[in-house]
Amino acid sequence: MQFKTIIEPFRIKMVEPIRQTTREERERLLAEAHYNLFLLKAEDVLIDLLTDSGTGAMSSGQWAGMMLGDESYAGAKSFYKFEAAVRTITHLKHVIPTHQGRAAERILFGSVLNPGDIVPNNTHFDTTRANTEYRGATALDIPIAEAHDPAAILPFKGNIDLEKLERVLVDNPGKVPLAMITVTNNSGGGQPVSMANIRAASAICHRHNVPLFLDCCRFAENAWFIKTREEGYADKTPLEIAQEMFSYVDGATMSAKKDGMANIGGFLALNDDALAQECKNLLILTEGFPTYGGLAGYDLEALAVGLEEVLHEDYLQYRIRSVAYLGDILTANNIPIVQPPGGHAIYIDAKTMLPHIPQSEYPAWALSLALYLEGGIRSVEIGSVMFGHQPDGSEKPAAMELVRLAFPRRVYTQSHVDYLAEVLLYVNSIKDDIRGVKIVESPPMLRHFSAKMTPVHDTLLQS
Ligand code: F0G
Repeated sequence: MQFKTIIEPFRIKMVEPIRQTTREERERLLAEAHYNLFLLKAEDVLIDLLTDSGTGAMSSGQWAGMMLGDESYAGAKSFYKFEAAVRTITHLKHVIPTHQGRAAERILFGSVLNPGDIVPNNTHFDTTRANTEYRGATALDIPIAEAHDPAAILPFKGNIDLEKLERVLVDNPGKVPLAMITVTNNSGGGQPVSMANIRAASAICHRHNVPLFLDCCRFAENAWFIKTREEGYADKTPLEIAQEMFSYVDGATMSAKKDGMANIGGFLALNDDALAQECKNLLILTEGFPTYGGLAGYDLEALAVGLEEVLHEDYLQYRIRSVAYLGDILTANNIPIVQPPGGHAIYIDAKTMLPHIPQSEYPAWALSLALYLEGGIRSVEIGSVMFGHQPDGSEKPAAMELVRLAFPRRVYTQSHVDYLAEVLLYVNSIKDDIRGVKIVESPPMLRHFSAKMTPVHDTLLQS
C-alpha cells in the first residue's frame, strides 16, 4: 500500500518554546520597532518566516559532526571534509570557505568587477545587487518576461532570458566580467531554473568568453524541481542533477545558511587558478585563512554533513510539499500569490491583493505589518522598500510588490502552517482596511534592514 500523506521525515528531540503575545502588545511593539519587522525582537514573534537563511534545525548527524570539529588554524581536518562535500556536488576545483554568501560575493566581485562593468543575472538578490553596485558596476536583471507576472504558471519561471543575455554580451564586449544565474530565483518568487536554461546560458557565455557563475544558495531545491518537472530527469538522483547543473558553470557563490542546512557558512568555488589565488588573498585580509574562511572547524563539519543531507529525496519531497501545502490553501481562497509556489517560500502578491494602496505607499510592507499585528507572524517585504531606491538616488517602483513567507528548514510542523493559513485568511477578509506606510528615515543602501517607517494615515488599519 502506498500511503499518500507526505510526512516530516524526522522526529523532534529538542524543542524551543515560542511565545504568544496579545494584539495590544504587538501594536505597541510595532510602533517601538518603527514599523520595521527587522527591528522587532525575535522573542516577540510567534512564527518567524522572515527568512530561511541560517534559521533551520540541524540534524543529530550534524550536531554529532560538530563534536569532531578540528579547530586548527591551518589545514584542519574539518576543512578537508567540507571541501570534499562541496567538490562531490560541484566538481569545481577551488573551494574557498566564507562566513556567509555575501562574503563570497564581495570577494569575487572585489576581484573581477570594475566601475562601468555589467553583471547579468536572472534576478540579483539584494546583497548580490548591493555588492555589485558597491564596485561601481551595474546589476542587470534579465529573467524571462513571465517572471514579472505573478499569476503565470510555468514550470521554470526562474529562467534567465537567453536572448537578452546574448544581446548584453554582444553589445558590451569587455564590460561583462561574469554572468550569474540564481537558483532558485529568490527575488523572483523562489522559482526554479531548468537544466536546459543553465546549459544554454553556459553555451552563450562561453561563446563570448564570459565565465558563468551560479548563485547556488538553493541548488538542492532547484535540483528537485528539475527532477519532478523537466523531461529526462525523473530517474536521476538529486545529487546527479546538482552535479550536472554545476558542470555547466565556471564557479559558484553559496550561502550555506540555506541548502547547506547550517546556521552559518558559505563558500566561493571556482575553476580559474589565478582568480582563485586572488580571491584567497582577499579572503585572508578580511575573512580568515583559506582553510577556515571565517568559520569554526565545527561549522565546517556541520556543513559537510548538511550538504549531504539536503540532497536526500525524502527531505526534498517534504520540503517542497510543505511550501506548496500553504500555497494550495491560499490559492483555493483566492489570495493572490506568485504561482506556482516556490521552493523555500510563498510570495503574496500585495499589488493585486491591495489595489487601494499605491506603490508609493508600499503595499507589501503594509501587508507584512498587518500579518504581524493580527497573528504574530513575521514575513519580509520584497518590493519597493527593498528595491525602489536607485544608485543615482532616484526612486523607481519595483516590478512586483511581494510579501515573502520563507520557511526555515525542518523547523515548523503542519499545524504551524494551518495556523498561518488561518491568519492569512483572516487578514484577507479585512484587507480593505489596511493602509499604506511611508519612510521616515533610511540609509542609502539596503534600506529595508534599518529604515524607520510609519503609517501614512496615522494607523495601519482603518477601523
Ligand atoms: N544570494 C541569494 C539568492 C540569497 O537568497 C542570499 C541570502 C544571498 C545570496 C546572501 O547570502 O545571507 O548568507 O550573505 N538570502 C537570505 C534571504 C538573507 O532571506 O533570502 P548570505
